[in-house]
Amino acid sequence: MWQYFMPTRVYFGERCVEQGKDALKSLGKRALVLTGKRSSKENGSLDDLMKVLAQIGVEMELFDDVEENPTFNLVRTIVSEFAQESFDFVVGLGGGSPMDTAKAVAVLLKNPSLKVEDLYDPSKYSEALPIVAIPTTAGTGSEVTQYSVLTDDAGFKRGFSHPVLTFPKLAFLDARYTLKLSESLTRSTGLDALCHSVEGFLSKRATPISDLYAKKSIELIVENLPIVLKQPENLRARENMLLASCLAGMVISQTSTTVAHALGYPLTTFKNIRHGEATAAFLDVVVEQASMEVPEKVEFVNSILGGVSNFLKLVGLNVRVEINEEELEVWTKRAKNVPHLQWTRGNFTEELIKYLYERVKIH
Ligand SMILES: [Fe+2]
Repeated sequence: MWQYFMPTRVYFGERCVEQGKDALKSLGKRALVLTGKRSSKENGSLDDLMKVLAQIGVEMELFDDVEENPTFNLVRTIVSEFAQESFDFVVGLGGGSPMDTAKAVAVLLKNPSLKVEDLYDPSKYSEALPIVAIPTTAGTGSEVTQYSVLTDDAGFKRGFSHPVLTFPKLAFLDARYTLKLSESLTRSTGLDALCHSVEGFLSKRATPISDLYAKKSIELIVENLPIVLKQPENLRARENMLLASCLAGMVISQTSTTVAHALGYPLTTFKNIRHGEATAAFLDVVVEQASMEVPEKVEFVNSILGGVSNFLKLVGLNVRVEINEEELEVWTKRAKNVPHLQWTRGNFTEELIKYLYERVKIH
């Protein structure tokens, strides 16, 4: 038995925010827009959004200080700043960080008695403000998933989700916003999308529909990631990466991510390695471990990528970090108990996890 549910209305293509303005208008009269400090101002997306909101008579409040890897404290700050105002919907504009923050804020503004920790128990809420997602990177797929990953007060990344409420109502994907992405952000976000599609493809929760999306996504990334790294302003290749990232998001909306994501989190929060790279550092072993259980899928991945490690090397992945003994112990213990392992294929023993961290450690 399997099911498929992905309730986001997706608009894709040049100037889609403007073309989809009636859908935006149907959400109400007042919007809270969350974005980062700089990129949405430089890539034209914030201007486009503000123009369209003005055209359709929607008032907006802007919070433009969402940092990378949003924390519980950031969410608390936003909620307390805007708690006294009323909004009809929340827009997350930018990379995964503003979109994930928007999901948290949409729930908490509608449920003022809840704390940020309560987001992790979806039985505690049955309403949220509608969420609009406008990605300006091609990687997280957060525009079509129910997940939000926040960094907790102890510094660990933890994902929450509600099966319905935290899916964006609308997503607008315009690849022009990704044309100015730096090489390093292009690489890390593209690798994040690749991890989503490969992890989802090999997950025990994969379905016939998620597999279709995963295969297409992997093919698009293999073909287009090397192109956008060399020709950042190639709009067609950027569109293909944005589509790949969206498809990969749809994959993990069904399968969730697997252990590569869980292993990568401490490298991001404690060592500042970008999420996509931190995750991709473990992707080869996720594929290798699945080979006994789903050999034909592993064969597909390896033949398209020309070998996982080869492809990662080709696009310039190189993760090396200082890790001390205590960190090695704590991270290994934590990884051994993550929920992601339930649907990861293979046998990720404590020894294997420790070895994987040793592998990225500078000796
Ligand atoms: Fe990810």
